[in-house]
Amino acid sequence: MDKIKIPYHIGIIVDGNGRWAKEKGLSRSMGHLEGSKTLRRISLYAFEKGVKVLSAFVFSTENFKRSKEEVDYLMNLFVKEFGTNFKIFKEKNIKVVFSGEKKGLPNDVQEVIAKMEEQTINNDAGIFNVCINYGGRKEIVETSKKLAQMVVDEKIKIEDISEELFKKNLYYDLPDIDLLIRTSGEIRLSNFMLYQLSYAELYFPKTYFPDFLEKEFDLALEEYTKRDRRYGGINYEK
Ligand code: IPE
Ligand code: MG
Repeated sequence: MDKIKIPYHIGIIVDGNGRWAKEKGLSRSMGHLEGSKTLRRISLYAFEKGVKVLSAFVFSTENFKRSKEEVDYLMNLFVKEFGTNFKIFKEKNIKVVFSGEKKGLPNDVQEVIAKMEEQTINNDAGIFNVCINYGGRKEIVETSKKLAQMVVDEKIKIEDISEELFKKNLYYDLPDIDLLIRTSGEIRLSNFMLYQLSYAELYFPKTYFPDFLEKEFDLALEEYTKRDRRYGGINYEK
């Protein structure tokens, strides 16, 4: 096997917490709790391995359609995670940012998010982008509005709008995603980071997210290493 290639930016769609719990005769909440531990553990592992940017889809705008009991549990879990357990990222010099419609979240979630962003803003060992109340189309529409307003305010001209300027005005200016992982065997994007995923390698392991630990992560890197990324060109040396 060639030397393992480390993607610069990995996207992870967290999926299968509920099924993981059901198979064990546990409540869905227990699946989310275990999933939150896995997310922390696997993220730290990714940064240790040299990944520079990690984006995780933890709650889509559509997830608000779930039962009140499940949504409430998840929101409380987010308060505990981002408010307390995420200290580890602060200590590891990781910058934590949150993408999505923050205003649609309960106040206590908004508060812990703002605090975590503020406390890690100058960290530079990596970026952990947590997508919460997030939708990819919404991000593109919001960016379009922002750019339109800049034209109206005469800060830019229409001709200045380019792929690069558009990227810079997304929720955060992040590089393209190199590798996308979605756990639990579902093979779809579900409105996740549509602009940033254009050239990503896609990987869909069957493992439920709570079980997606170091060994599984290493398998994802192995698979990524085998992929021949050409960006529409041809690798004449092969
Ligand atoms: C992903 O697991 C976690 C969130 C969306 C918050 P699911 O809750 O989607 O788990 P399944 O798909 O029901 O197994
Ligand atoms: Mg699911």
